[in-house]
Amino acid sequence: MSLKVLSTGVGLPQRFITNDDLVEVMGLDTSDEWIYSRTGIKGRYVCQEETLAELSITAARQALDEAELTGADIDYILCSTIAADTKSPSLACTVAEAIDASCGAVDLNGACTGFIYDLDVANALIATGRAKNILIVAAEKMSAHADWTDRRTCVLFGDGAAAVVVTAGNMIKYINVASKPDTEVIRIQADMAGNNPIARDMPAAGFVHMDGQKVFKYAVNIIENEVKSALEKTGLTPDDIDLYLLHQANLRIIDFAISRLKQPKDKFPTNIDHTGNTSSVSIPLLLHELRQAGQIKAGQKMFLCAFGAGMTYGTCVWEWE
Ligand code: ACO
Repeated sequence: MSLKVLSTGVGLPQRFITNDDLVEVMGLDTSDEWIYSRTGIKGRYVCQEETLAELSITAARQALDEAELTGADIDYILCSTIAADTKSPSLACTVAEAIDASCGAVDLNGACTGFIYDLDVANALIATGRAKNILIVAAEKMSAHADWTDRRTCVLFGDGAAAVVVTAGNMIKYINVASKPDTEVIRIQADMAGNNPIARDMPAAGFVHMDGQKVFKYAVNIIENEVKSALEKTGLTPDDIDLYLLHQANLRIIDFAISRLKQPKDKFPTNIDHTGNTSSVSIPLLLHELRQAGQIKAGQKMFLCAFGAGMTYGTCVWEWE
């Protein structure tokens, strides 16, 4: 017994910022040509008024409506985020309150891999009979962590939330989450600046710091190794996989994976052109868009792979029900 996905939903900010807007509105010394040619990004949604909770609740309600469930039917809420609007209560509790749920509700921080971590926990909760219906919400407001004067990082990210409702089923053929500790490659310092008079100086809230080239090498190795082990363990070949849903960090990383795996490009759907890198939201957001476009069908085998700060990574092979 594992899980199956019943429904999906999204919550996106209203404001869409193109690469040209970054130059013209945000005053950044960059260009559409530089950003698009190195990342595949044309634009991204950025919060102006919206809170992360609002985006999450919109996504959660949409997924619940499609599943024809209410908050009372949900046995667990798992949110994936690196920074909720409030340190406490959790984003998951805020969602629970909005949908009138009274089940377990907790946030997990697996960085960009967070959605696969949530899937892994949901799978275990369902397999052990602890829960029947689980709401997973991945939500990130990367614009709040970007240094908008640093063209090396701020152009890469976008905001949003995506939800899935899962229930008992048999979709998951393989799931693996892991970390390869290297905590310096991507780092966002937490806000530690309190006013404890005897504490030594603590750093204030920080921006995203990232060694882009290290991330690139890490990502392509992880994808290649994880495809190999997932396929070995499931007895599948690369040809058996219908869709490769990869973390939308950078189109060049995805292109690299395509060339290594020697699979047709249309097996690697992308949405990074209009979302940017939305961290843990990227895979469920992509999944939602593919479902909306009628591209997800029963029986399709999919390979999901995400990687992020920590460094974390996670992989899932599922067959759509
Ligand atoms: N516009 C114009 N010029 C820029 C920009 C920009 N937005 N950003 C950097 N540059 C310039 C730099 O100033 C530098 O110029 P200089 O040589 O005169 O100093 C030059 O371009 C090269 O800068 P690098 O930082 O070395 O750029 P690089 O070629 O490594 O490309 C990138 C950066 C696109 C981030 C690349 O490293 C990459 O693809 N890395 C993968 C990491 C990634 O995608 N991370 C996503 C977030 S993390 C995650 O999701 C797990």
